[in-house]
Amino acid sequence: MDYLEIQGGNKLQGTVKIDGAKNAALPLIAATILAKKPLTIYNLPAVNDIFTMLTLLENLGASYTYENNQVHIDATTINNTTAIYDIVRKMRASILTLGPLLARFGICEVSLPGGCAIGQRPIDLHLKALEMMGAQIEIKQGYVIAKAPDGLRGATIVFDKITVTGTENIVMAAALAKGTSTIINAAKEPEVVQLCEVLQDAGVHIEGIGSDELVIEGTNQELINIKDFTVIPDRIEAGTYLCAGAITNSAITLEKVNHAHLVSIILKLQEMGYDFEIEKEKITIKPASRIKALKFSTTEYPGFPTDMQAQFMALSLIADGTSTIEERLFENRFMHVSELNRMGADITLNNHIATIEGNAKLYGADVMATDLRASSALVLAGLIATGTTKVHRIYHLDRGYVKLEEKLQKLGAKIKRLRE
Ligand code: UD1
Repeated sequence: MDYLEIQGGNKLQGTVKIDGAKNAALPLIAATILAKKPLTIYNLPAVNDIFTMLTLLENLGASYTYENNQVHIDATTINNTTAIYDIVRKMRASILTLGPLLARFGICEVSLPGGCAIGQRPIDLHLKALEMMGAQIEIKQGYVIAKAPDGLRGATIVFDKITVTGTENIVMAAALAKGTSTIINAAKEPEVVQLCEVLQDAGVHIEGIGSDELVIEGTNQELINIKDFTVIPDRIEAGTYLCAGAITNSAITLEKVNHAHLVSIILKLQEMGYDFEIEKEKITIKPASRIKALKFSTTEYPGFPTDMQAQFMALSLIADGTSTIEERLFENRFMHVSELNRMGADITLNNHIATIEGNAKLYGADVMATDLRASSALVLAGLIATGTTKVHRIYHLDRGYVKLEEKLQKLGAKIKRLRE
């Protein structure tokens, strides 16, 4: 197994190119199940989750060729509607095949994704919405078995909670349903917006894109003409590199970003005292003279993303004062706290609120990555710790960050990938 070894204490400088958004690409790959002809997706990030999704589609009967961040995919040949446990267990987002498979074939079996380090993560809202659209659903031997022999029909769905992949699943299902679907309390994340735009470009009539109410006209099981497209930049990867600049109090520039997607992150960093230069597709973060403590809650887009909570917790360690972070979306998304404390941090937890003492003196240690974003927080802490930090179990990182160590090396960090 690989691990990362980091010598802390270096300033960073230079430029880093941001890859395509994993969380946009995953539903978009699933959406190719709805396509009537092969297509090419550009700017795919070369991370393990993407290859898992491609393998899942291949297992269903699709074929693809991947080269240089682009994939040519033909899902017209899908002839199997079972998303097997062996693939689904590697990535919860495999559940994104449920909506499009059921909409196209009227039947499918998708293994239930289990819980994960950050909490239980049920899919009840996905299932309830599909039932509203006429699906019969049972859970048997760890599989969701869904049937809609006469196809799905449009319905009005009110999500009790805002769910990103839930909204995406139902948008894809509604695209091929019979009649009009209205999704109330829909997620507004840029990744949901891109999915809607790609489907709209394929001829599906969708109103309310980017709002919390989507109205979708289904095609009554007619496959759609999805055109080639380019995946949007990864706002979480971008946010993580902004934190790398911030925690080392260095000036670095990010290229290929969409700063409109980064507003809540940039505002928090400005509140802490950092300066920015923003140009088209480029952001430069500049050092702060005094780094102020923060108080914030994670929430749905356009609020502050839960996927940036761990990185900002690492950053709060160098603030002048005490910060508090409330995690509102996932009950157990604080696995990085005990690892950061092993490096000398003073973070206390009270249910879903973390209190972080600033002006921390961190020392390198062996730490364990527990989930994707928690892993990047440990790397950030390693960049400023005295001595050597070894971050183990980095397969979590490889699920979502493209060549993290190479990009950080290019910025001047002393970091290398080694084998246990
Ligand atoms: C997506 C992102 C993930 C991000 C999260 C929140 C992808 C592939 N993953 O995950 O990186 O952290 O959004 O921004 O895009 N819930 C239910 N029942 C459901 C569905 C969700 O109770 O059926 C709850 C969840 O447990 C959680 C909240 O709703 O508390 C939001 O989860 P959701 O938006 O669904 O997260 P994901 O789509 O899984």
